[in-house]
Amino acid sequence: MSVELSAGLSAERQSKASVTVIGLGPMGQAMAGAYLDAGYAVTVWNRTAARADELVARGAELAPSAEVAVAANELVVLSLTDYDAVFAVLESVEAVVAGKVIANLGSDTPERAREVATWLAERGAGHLTGGVQVPPSGIGSPESSTFYSGPVELFRRHRAALEVLTGADYRGDDPGLAQLYYQIQMDLFWSSMGGYLHAMAIAEANGISAEEFLPHAVATASLVPRLIEFYAPRITAGDHRGDVDRLAMALAGIEHVRHTAEASGVDGALPALLAEAFGRAAEAGDGAASLSVMVGRFRAAARAR
Ligand SMILES: NC(=O)c1ccc[n+]([C@@H]2O[C@H](COP(=O)([O-])OP(=O)(O)OC[C@H]3O[C@@H](n4cnc5c(N)ncnc54)[C@H](OP(=O)(O)O)[C@@H]3O)[C@@H](O)[C@H]2O)c1
Repeated sequence: MSVELSAGLSAERQSKASVTVIGLGPMGQAMAGAYLDAGYAVTVWNRTAARADELVARGAELAPSAEVAVAANELVVLSLTDYDAVFAVLESVEAVVAGKVIANLGSDTPERAREVATWLAERGAGHLTGGVQVPPSGIGSPESSTFYSGPVELFRRHRAALEVLTGADYRGDDPGLAQLYYQIQMDLFWSSMGGYLHAMAIAEANGISAEEFLPHAVATASLVPRLIEFYAPRITAGDHRGDVDRLAMALAGIEHVRHTAEASGVDGALPALLAEAFGRAAEAGDGAASLSVMVGRFRAAARAR
């Protein structure tokens, strides 16, 4: 750190393990808090400075600018909404980024992760992509997990610091990999949560409370892991026999959900999307195949566009 940029930060911090956290939404606040709990000297910066108040009261140092925050430590954790926000911050710290390792733990696409990594490499900085698989309440727990990718030597060097946040699941060198794993998990997550909220809307429209639906929702959700375990080897083997389920049945079933939603005064767009996809596959001749045939059909539909 240059003398000028380090002037605002206290000298005592140089003897402790230290980290910078930029972005203090619920996730960044939990991360900075976990570092404080672990005894790190924590420098923070956030676009809206007031969000740092509690952390400062607990001992974090609020940098006067993102540039000072980045200059303060080798390891800089970014917890920002998306990579537009990441670029907005990085462009403002371009002059001090050389030699830093940016652990970029927000959500965006694999392509954009590669873009950020390239941008940083061109300026002499390292990049680790991270996809955090838990909500802020899971930060600080070794049972929680984050996907990482990027240069293995950077991951090894900073693994202990990253593991203050969650367990670290290193996926490989390609900076896009951690986001790829993160996004396929989130695909499953958002569909599941969307399904629950949509079902709950139908329930509520018919006078069924969240508490009344709760045991039934949990029972159905707990079927999903068993179904995934059943389908995974069949998908790998390309075995889409309709011996236990048929796409035609799934199409009829999802249409019943859509009609029940619409008759209840609930938007039927969510089940209609699946009905449309299943319908196209059935029309193409897969009606008697297993629902698992949709894996290939989703890809074929994208190619046809
Ligand atoms: N929360 C979760 O449950 C969860 C779980 C797993 C992963 N994640 C991921 O973790 C990341 C952070 O989550 P979060 O819940 O803390 O998100 P958030 O509420 O959106 O907060 C993100 C931070 O980004 C900052 N920001 C946004 N745009 C900016 C810009 N243009 N320039 C500078 N700063 C900007 C915000 O600053 P201001 O305070 O000034 O607005 C805020 O500090 C996201 O990518 C999210 O997908 C979240």
